[in-house]
Amino acid sequence: MAPGTSEAERRLAALVRAHNRWRGAEVFNLLASENAVSATARRYLSSDLAGRYTLPVETSVAGELLDNSYTGTRYTDAIERVANDAATRVFRARFATTRPLSGHLAALSALVPLVPPRSRILAIPPEQGGYDGYAPGFVPAMLGYTVRPLPAEGPGYRVDATVAVETIRREHPHAVVLGQSFFLFPYPLREIADAAHDADALVLYDASHVLGLIAGGEFQDPLREGADVVFGSTHKSFPGPQGGLLFTDREDLFRQLDPALVWRVFDNAHWNRIAALAQTLLELERCGRDYARTVIEDARALGASLAERNLPLVAAEEGFTASHQLHLDRAELRARWSLGTGALARRLERQRLLIDLVGRIGTAEIARLGLMPDDMPRLAELLMRGGPRGERVGPEVLHWRREFPTLRFA
Ligand SMILES: Cc1ncc(COP(=O)(O)O)c(C=O)c1O
Repeated sequence: MAPGTSEAERRLAALVRAHNRWRGAEVFNLLASENAVSATARRYLSSDLAGRYTLPVETSVAGELLDNSYTGTRYTDAIERVANDAATRVFRARFATTRPLSGHLAALSALVPLVPPRSRILAIPPEQGGYDGYAPGFVPAMLGYTVRPLPAEGPGYRVDATVAVETIRREHPHAVVLGQSFFLFPYPLREIADAAHDADALVLYDASHVLGLIAGGEFQDPLREGADVVFGSTHKSFPGPQGGLLFTDREDLFRQLDPALVWRVFDNAHWNRIAALAQTLLELERCGRDYARTVIEDARALGASLAERNLPLVAAEEGFTASHQLHLDRAELRARWSLGTGALARRLERQRLLIDLVGRIGTAEIARLGLMPDDMPRLAELLMRGGPRGERVGPEVLHWRREFPTLRFA
């Protein structure tokens, strides 16, 4: 470090170095909410763009730049167009914006302009795998909505078409917000969208968890199946920088959405992130299908390998999952191994295997590292030994992890 740096700065530098080593090279990350960013995207994140402003008051619908409060923006504006155009191609959408700073803010970017205060919305309750943000005390309280439950029943928290249609007919919502943090299987979207549109309700699809799988064409295709607006995080199954994006085919909605992106939910966007997101979208344009397929095949193979070894997972009879997630069966985990999901996750963390404390296991990042379905029995064995059996497998994990120094699909 340069002479004159403080003790605190040296400590900070050491912490960042240690984090990068630990998370980037010494663990297998099976957190369903995370992913690894490609080397090129990382370079863009730390580029000069990180500190810049640009505020084009542009209607992307007309494609015409009307004004900008800043100078020096000739490249940022072009970078945004590369990103938005790539998003429209990858998701086969007519309109897209890459400005939302996160998945949560992408949801707000859709809700604030499209769903007025005092509206009634339907959302899946958090106890049934829904996103906490849509629970009554959070986004609905902030925006003045009444939220009614859209049931997602059974151990895999699946939305049943008949129940959803009856709920929509009974509740007459202004919007149906479809989105789950525990998300294994696609929604019966056509049926939901038909019922919602008959009731004059919008269908807003929160793809935060499955965006990368949708990008690869391997989950469901929300726009073709009737969603009006799709939004989500760009860092869970989508292997990009932390952030959000939003797309739609409906010009009438995008005309309301796009101008509201500035000064309602946020002001400046983060242009380094948008460059990195553009890069990720372009990478997925080349190899998104292979990536998404590998993620899902890994998840199903890992589910089968864990179940063979007596780790209880939900939805076994349906092949465990159609996404990047697997869900531990909490009651059975306790019954068979006297363990809660939190204790299991902490035990595994000490052995360099990361899963979350709420019982989800994700395969997006290990697919990026290059682990294939054939590798899942070995991974399942390490998870069983390091978790329920409480063995010290950390050194073995580290040794194996070193065989995967670079990212695939990048
Ligand atoms: C379904 C869903 N929507 C939105 C979010 C919020 O995403 P972000 O952390 O990108 O704001 C999450 C986060 O976990 C989520 O699971």
